[in-house]
Amino acid sequence: CDVGFYGVNCEEECGRCKDDLCSNDDGHCLDGCQIWFLGDLCKEEIALPSLDGSHAFLKRMNESAVAITWTQDPGIPDKHAEYYGYTVAYAEGSGDFTDGPSVPHDPALMTQTLIVANVHSHNEYRFEVKVYREMSTEREFGVKSNTVIIESSGSNHVTDHTNVFAANWELFAVGVCVFLIITAIVMIIVLRSRPKQGP
Ligand SMILES: *[C@@H]1O[C@H](CO)[C@@H](O)[C@H](O)[C@H]1NC(C)=O
Repeated sequence: CDVGFYGVNCEEECGRCKDDLCSNDDGHCLDGCQIWFLGDLCKEEIALPSLDGSHAFLKRMNESAVAITWTQDPGIPDKHAEYYGYTVAYAEGSGDFTDGPSVPHDPALMTQTLIVANVHSHNEYRFEVKVYREMSTEREFGVKSNTVIIESSGSNHVTDHTNVFAANWELFAVGVCVFLIITAIVMIIVLRSRPKQGP
């Protein structure tokens, strides 16, 4: 068979074998899989995860700790959960982001929360959640969540600009819908109860 093919008439395509070492007979990889691939034939991919569009939320616990909550990547298959995890990164003021605590992906949960400690209440911090895939000590990050900001607690005031905007917009949309429905009901009642005006 040519490199990358196996089986009767060499019609089957090999998976992602390390160094293209694929058995001509049954396609199994002689020296294991390339990184991010699994299975006898190395055809199962540990795909790069993403928190694109996922909103992280923030809650101040006390003077020195903040809780960050986010929705896990729903695209991660349960059977591959062990290869994924999350890291909360934080930046003080306008500084660079530093990786904080990490937690493995948990297929039994929708959302997860991590506590970041040593957050000084008199400074502003930004937080973001990073999702990663990890295999044989190699870790690769996918698309991050939005950034949430906590302002100094001189005003003791937690702000998340994106989420505040989203929440207000949703409230407005719900309000408009309720108004339209009530208007429609009132008009139907008025039209039906109006006595027929004969000639
Ligand atoms: C703040 O909250 C964190 C998490 O709940 C806790 O571990 C820590 O001891 C608390 N610190 C203070 C000063 O209360």
